[in-house]
Amino acid sequence: MKIPPFTLERYFAKHEFSAKYLLSSSDCESLRLPELLEMASPEMRSSWENLQLGYTESQGHPLLLEETAKFHAGLSASNLLVAAPQENIFLLMEALLQPGDHVIAAFPGYQSLYEIARTIGCHVSMWEPDEEADWHFDLEKLAALIRPSTKLVVVNFPHNPTGYIPPQDEFDALIEMLRKKGIFLLSDEMYRFLEINPGATLTSACSNYERAFSLFGMSKTFGLAGLRIGWIATRHQPTLARMRELKDYTTICSSAPSEILSIIALQNKGAIIADQNARVGRNLALLEKFMTKYAHLFRWNRPRGGSICFPRMLGDESTLAFADLLVEEAGIMIAPSHVFDYGNQHFRIGFGRENFGEVLDVFGEYLDKKFKS
Ligand SMILES: Cc1ncc(COP(=O)(O)O)c(C=O)c1O
Repeated sequence: MKIPPFTLERYFAKHEFSAKYLLSSSDCESLRLPELLEMASPEMRSSWENLQLGYTESQGHPLLLEETAKFHAGLSASNLLVAAPQENIFLLMEALLQPGDHVIAAFPGYQSLYEIARTIGCHVSMWEPDEEADWHFDLEKLAALIRPSTKLVVVNFPHNPTGYIPPQDEFDALIEMLRKKGIFLLSDEMYRFLEINPGATLTSACSNYERAFSLFGMSKTFGLAGLRIGWIATRHQPTLARMRELKDYTTICSSAPSEILSIIALQNKGAIIADQNARVGRNLALLEKFMTKYAHLFRWNRPRGGSICFPRMLGDESTLAFADLLVEEAGIMIAPSHVFDYGNQHFRIGFGRENFGEVLDVFGEYLDKKFKS
């Protein structure tokens, strides 16, 4: 498979573990192992302490499947496949798509959500939001992109990088549009439950549509990216069966410690999600003040959910050049829109981390110096 490099991940690989400050990470603050184990029930504590480090069940640990099914009303363990989120995107596209199929993907977006389809030999059209309308993804624009050969539509709400979430009735209308034509839907729900307005949580697509695949996992909302655990939920059994066959060629099964730790986290989901949301809320308030103070440099649409947003930099400087200087001179890493293949005027800010306020202060000092009049 001749797939191009993943530009965003390569940019992170360059800076994530050397930059002093990260201002663009999309995951929430990671939990520490003792903190997570503290939450374990006596049964799970014992499972952890007596864990045998052998192969695990390929589909996922039965308790993990039981917990994950709770996120997708009407579905059960038989509708799920556990694998790292990124791996699941790969498995799904490989299982579902053929060269020549037409795919429509929300864009800008997480590169694998369209690049894998392209590499398989699909024709990919981009469904772009309107920045002037609060990053709204317009259904009429989507309708205009649909062709007789359209096999799959890929969306991701809350959206990386803009933080956009459609209202539920628009999401329902999108599903109706696809249902009429039998088009599959990959709904990347990795940032679900990080909605700024808690009422904005969309129904998981797989609960409402028999041809939808919902992707969720431990990395973003739970702040447990290092576990590398996620899942796809769907009622489309033939595709799920093929994905299971393909997984034998990727990881075969998930890591045993990661599965147990994920079960512990999922059994405590209320507390973990509330804690992450409180942090995201505090950080967003700081970011609002920052954006007001620096309104002469940046314009932004306040995100509706997720832990990221995508401000525009005013003026002519490319955000790639700006980001390179910022990391070199102030040790702060941001992700310029170049890594999303989306021009050179935007950059992504991530506000899920505990030290966000501190990093924002350092960023402010840098801007004051750089743009002093
Ligand atoms: C929208 C989206 N989908 C999928 C992924 C992949 O998740 P993971 O890194 O847990 O494999 C990411 C990671 O950044 C993402 O932002």
